[in-house]
Amino acid sequence: MGITITPVDQASAGFAAQVAGIDIAAGVSLSQAAVIEEAMDRYGVLIFRDQVIDDQQQFAFSQLFGPMEQATGDIAQSSERRLSMNINDISNLDKSGKVLARDDRKRLFGLGNMLWHSDSSFKSIPAKYSLLSGRVVPERGGNTEFADMRAAWEALDPELQDECRDLVCEHSQLYSRASLGFDNFTDEEVKKWQPVWQQLVRTHPGSGRQSLFLSSHIGGIRGWPVPEARMFLRDLTEHATQPQFVYIHRWRQWDLLMWDNRALMHRARRYDHTVARDLHRTTVSVGEAASG
Ligand code: OGA
Ligand code: MN
Repeated sequence: MGITITPVDQASAGFAAQVAGIDIAAGVSLSQAAVIEEAMDRYGVLIFRDQVIDDQQQFAFSQLFGPMEQATGDIAQSSERRLSMNINDISNLDKSGKVLARDDRKRLFGLGNMLWHSDSSFKSIPAKYSLLSGRVVPERGGNTEFADMRAAWEALDPELQDECRDLVCEHSQLYSRASLGFDNFTDEEVKKWQPVWQQLVRTHPGSGRQSLFLSSHIGGIRGWPVPEARMFLRDLTEHATQPQFVYIHRWRQWDLLMWDNRALMHRARRYDHTVARDLHRTTVSVGEAASG
């Protein structure tokens, strides 16, 4: 069966496309992976429907696209983890599969995903692709939204582009969570999530397009007073997340979404916190795979 790639039918979402003719559970060839990667360069988010997969199959598919990240951005202590370190636990469940209490620390930390962000921008080697599998999805709410940082960059006025071009931002999970009032970090967490520096404007190696590297993990701009930096970034984020740059994904069980963190930001939306939502994420880093 050939692969077909069809842009989604949403006026603002020319950068999202649905892929048919791929069966992830059955295994994906290198030539199929090359077609997918080319589509990723062109679009930014791809939707694979009806992919009934387990963590191993998800990992094997993800690995075709580069070196894998470990889930070191999760907050759960290893003894409390529900999933292996290869999988980011994007759920509201505890180890026994029960929905977390409203005031559970893992749940409150997870609410940070509702802020616009780029995955692992707080790591010195940030994420290339994220792959998110919908294992249990709520009937209502809990959409995931994507904003196109290439289109946002291209729509900025040239003076503002000049101002942005050489800026370097400081990223940490401590900043994104503190902006929600979540700040009871342990010494170990503070140490693990020391800020890293990232260029605000980057060029995509696959498409050659420039984009804004924004993320709620940013807490400052090198050489700028903090309030001025944060205000500037708020303005930029407001610009970059206008409806004309946003694709809204409404989940079906067994959707697999794949997006390029080098080109997009994303966020989760609200849902009833007493019902289960269980998504599993694998993450490909921008680091080069060992050759050979
Ligand atoms: C993620 C994420 C959003 C969502 O998996 O990285 O931010 O809708 N998820 O759960
Ligand atoms: Mn995310």
